[in-house]
Amino acid sequence: MHVPLLDLGAQYRSIREELTPALQSVLESTAFAGGPFVAAFEREFAAYCGCEQALGVSSGTSALWLALVGLGVGAGDEVITTPNTFIATAEAISFCGATPVFVDVDPQTCTMDPDLLEPAITPQTKAIIPVHLYGQPADMDPILAVARRHGLLVIEDACQAHGAEYKGRKAGSLGDAGCFSFYPGKNLGAYGEAGAVITNDAELAQKIRMLRDHGQSEKYKHAMIGWNDRMDGLQGAVLSVKLKHLDEWNDARRERAGFYDELLEDLPHIVLPREAPYARHIYHIFAVRVPHRDKLLATLNAQGIGCGIHYPVPIHLQKAYEFLGYRRGSFPVAEKSAQEVLSLPMYPEMTIGQLETVSEALTSLLHARESAAPMPAHTP
Ligand SMILES: Cc1ncc(COP(=O)(O)O)c(C=O)c1O
Repeated sequence: MHVPLLDLGAQYRSIREELTPALQSVLESTAFAGGPFVAAFEREFAAYCGCEQALGVSSGTSALWLALVGLGVGAGDEVITTPNTFIATAEAISFCGATPVFVDVDPQTCTMDPDLLEPAITPQTKAIIPVHLYGQPADMDPILAVARRHGLLVIEDACQAHGAEYKGRKAGSLGDAGCFSFYPGKNLGAYGEAGAVITNDAELAQKIRMLRDHGQSEKYKHAMIGWNDRMDGLQGAVLSVKLKHLDEWNDARRERAGFYDELLEDLPHIVLPREAPYARHIYHIFAVRVPHRDKLLATLNAQGIGCGIHYPVPIHLQKAYEFLGYRRGSFPVAEKSAQEVLSLPMYPEMTIGQLETVSEALTSLLHARESAAPMPAHTP
């Protein structure tokens, strides 16, 4: 049985009847760029996240960039984040003229290790961007405490964490701003590119509203230099339909993560993702850790099981960021995880049969490996 890494078609078929009239309303009203469908989604998403404001924008990358610029981060500033993220986190910092500074991650959760923050702070440090990787929030209380002590801004990269919770509060709602991507494969995915910033800061919200729309204060009056980062109306309508299903889809992912845990628990040499005691993990990605990952990945893919790697090369080892002067060994935990992480198929519509197919394939490959060459106990 072929099992894809994710199946957007299955999700579309389950909501087709709701989507068709919603898309038709946008087409009939011709509200294609910004407009009432985006505004409605903004109200709904702000309420869902427990935040006062949500600003629909053109992507998660733009959301991060707009939050940084809106909060006054710019040339000469340093922004602390983690190296095992999608490159957009660092790009947004670079594109507002600031410099990314990396700290290593916690070996259990692969999110920012709060104990490493203070030594990374310099007089130039302006902000911290924790990344809620794979759908699990970073440990926000100690991060926020360090930020408060040093007068730093906190911008959450919640691009993988729609509906995830930290001690009962929604990811993205804890810092000065939270940034989301609605890239199609996300737990809340658009049918194209889209993103959002959420915040309780009315001044920041107003600034982002202008920045995303060429700095306009009113039509053809440009109070500042902005950019075109508006969300389009079709995406607003799609996201409003899909937001109603987000909790049920996240619950389904959590249930499937539970099945994986049961099926894979006793396998040799595998580390399963663990929900931190403070978190409600929404399993955007179900990333296990295995030695000899690349070989395992190639075999699973050849068997029709769509696995992936998030992410194979940490940012500090990417050519684009060579100039920062980091090298191999700078962030040992992130580097080790980049060599071992393997994302298994995960989506709300996955059947028990598909979960069993993936688990059986992994079981036979890991057992075969174990009998050929028993490996020392694996440490995270
Ligand atoms: C952690 C993280 N940050 C930022 C982004 C960028 O979002 P987008 O692709 O919508 O620009 C993504 C998207 O994959 C992401 O996973």
